Amino acid sequence: MAATVTGAGGDGAADQYGLAGHPVAHSWSPFIHGMFAKATGENIVYRLYDLLPGQFRREALHLLTSGVRGLNVTVPHKQAAAELVNELTARAARAQAVNTIALRDGATLLGDNTDGEGLVTDLERNLGIPLADRRILLLGAGGAVRGVLGPLLERSVREIVIANRTPARARALAAEFHDLGAVTAGGFADVDGPPFDLIVNGTSASLAGEMPDLPPGAVDGHTLCYDMAYGRGDTTFTRWARTRRAGRVEKGWGMLVEQAAAAFTLWRGKRPDTRPVLAALAPFR
Ligand code: ATR
Repeated sequence: MAATVTGAGGDGAADQYGLAGHPVAHSWSPFIHGMFAKATGENIVYRLYDLLPGQFRREALHLLTSGVRGLNVTVPHKQAAAELVNELTARAARAQAVNTIALRDGATLLGDNTDGEGLVTDLERNLGIPLADRRILLLGAGGAVRGVLGPLLERSVREIVIANRTPARARALAAEFHDLGAVTAGGFADVDGPPFDLIVNGTSASLAGEMPDLPPGAVDGHTLCYDMAYGRGDTTFTRWARTRRAGRVEKGWGMLVEQAAAAFTLWRGKRPDTRPVLAALAPFR
C-alpha cells in the first residue's frame, strides 16, 4: 500500500471502508462517504489506498482480512476485483468488473458494480434525461464502459454504439451484451448516422489531453455530451463538445455521488440522500 489518507471519521471503533485504485489522491470519495455517514448516523472511517497494479490482489486481501469491511475499487483494478471476490451480483457478473466489495459474515467477499446505477440515476433523476428510445454513443471499451452497458440497455434505449480506439475491443464488448438490446461497435471513424441523443465518454483519453477523432455529424444542438470523468473546469472531451455546439455538456460528478450512495447502501443497509452531497460539491464542479 503506497499511501493511506484518512477520510471520514477517525474513531478507533468505527467500521473501516475505503477506495482502492491508482492513483487515488484526487478522489472525493472520502468526502462523499463522510457526508453520507454523518447524515445516516453510521460510524465509519473511509480511507484511500493507492495500490499498484501488481499489488492489488495481495493488498486488497490483506485489508479485507484485517478489519476493512468494504472497498470501492477504481482504475485500474475493476476487472482484477471481479476475479478476487467469492461472489458477484448479477450486474457485476454481467460487467465482469467490480467497483464495490463487501465483506459478508466475516468470510465471503461479494463484488458489485454500482457504476451503471450511478450513471442512469444521474441522467434520469438529477439531470432529467429519460433514456427510453434514445440513441447513445459510448466512447471506450474498458472497465468504465463495461459497468454501464447493462444498466443503460435495461432502460429500453433504442441503440447503443460503442466506439473505441481499438475497434476489436469494442466489437468483443458489443458481442457480450448484444442479447440485452441493440449494440453495435467499431472505431471512431466508423461512427455514422444522425447525431446522437447522448454521447458518454468512458475513455481515459482526456488524461493524456487527447480527444477521440469523431465525425462532426455525431453531435448537434440536441446532443447531451457526458464525461464520466469529473474534475474542475473542462475536460478535453467537454471542451470538444462545446466547440461542436452540443446542446448540453455534463461531467460525472453526479455519477460519482450516485454510485457511492449505492455502495454505501450495500455496506450499511441505509440509502443516503444524495441531494445535500450534490449541493455541497456544486462549488467545486
Ligand atoms: P477503464 O477501466 O478506465 O475503462 P481501461 O480498461 O484501461 O480503463 O480503458 C481505457 C479506455 O480508454 C480504453 O477504451 C482505451 O482505448 P483502447 O481500448 O484502444 O486502449 C481508451 N483510451 C485510452 N487512451 C486513449 C486515447 N489517447 N485515445 C483514445 N482512447 C483512449
